[in-house]
Amino acid sequence: MIVYFSGTGNSRYCAQMLAVQLGDELIDAFHFIRKGIAADLYSERPWIFVAPTYGWQLPHIFMDFLRGGSFLGCKAAYFVMTCGNEIGNAGTKIGQLCAEKGFDYQGVLEVVMPENYIAMFPTPDEAESARIIAAAQPALEAGVKWIRQGKPFPYERISLIDRLKTSVVNPLFYLFCVKAKPFYATNACVGCGKCEKACLLSNIRLEDGKPVWGNHCTHCMACICGCPSAAIEYGRHSHGKPRYRCRDYKVNGVLEI
Ligand SMILES: Cc1cc2nc3c(=O)[nH]c(=O)nc-3n(C[C@H](O)[C@H](O)[C@H](O)COP(=O)(O)O)c2cc1C
Ligand code: SF4
Ligand code: SF4
Repeated sequence: MIVYFSGTGNSRYCAQMLAVQLGDELIDAFHFIRKGIAADLYSERPWIFVAPTYGWQLPHIFMDFLRGGSFLGCKAAYFVMTCGNEIGNAGTKIGQLCAEKGFDYQGVLEVVMPENYIAMFPTPDEAESARIIAAAQPALEAGVKWIRQGKPFPYERISLIDRLKTSVVNPLFYLFCVKAKPFYATNACVGCGKCEKACLLSNIRLEDGKPVWGNHCTHCMACICGCPSAAIEYGRHSHGKPRYRCRDYKVNGVLEI
């Protein structure tokens, strides 16, 4: 069973690709997290967990979802992390989580996809995004091959810098950077309510037809990148940058799941 979390669609795209290629079931963690329900799932096939990289680790919200859930049946668990650049030493943290949950850890696959972190970094335009997604296909296809063969993903060498990013910088990143305060809606807002529905933490509510952000944010970028009017800004950081959303994975123009 493939279980994914995605803010702007990259991880959903990869999860859909794996589901189509492996003929496996696909579950979106969004509904569980949004409703505050613990997952209670059963799979006879290996678990494949797909999520973005946040500060060189799995998103804390996704790790909490995994910790709090029940995943019965097969013990083998593969992890696929999409990223804009690299996942650091995320594998060690995932290995610890698997030990806690009784999973038989089968490794983590790094898949470089378009950067979505508009609150901090430049985001790619459509042509650049398409090029990056095309370049990600061999990694995904290799992942499909290893899973089909029942082999763990190959181990990637971890440097001291990787270890520091994941263990030391990640907590500081959450403490100092992951904040909703700089979000605001411009006059381009048409009050459609899409941002309110897109927030997995229900951190946005419409007041007088305009979104207002609370303090419970995990920086998934779903609100700012999903606004159909590009009416959301993050302080000055997002000014003039393309709003990035990944398309669905389709075969001959058809989404087969
Ligand atoms: C809060 C946040 C933190 C991020 N941290 C990293 C990181 O440490 N390394 C990296 O390569 N990309 C990082 N990124 C980029 C995303 O991991 C990447 O674009 C991912 O594919 C987005 O997946 P999604 O579209 O499924 O949400 C970060 C993005 C966000 C929003
Ligand atoms: S998604 Fe955009 S246009 Fe719709 S309510 Fe939110 S900010 Fe306004
Ligand atoms: S407020 Fe926006 S960035 Fe924060 S969790 Fe909700 S949708 Fe994601």
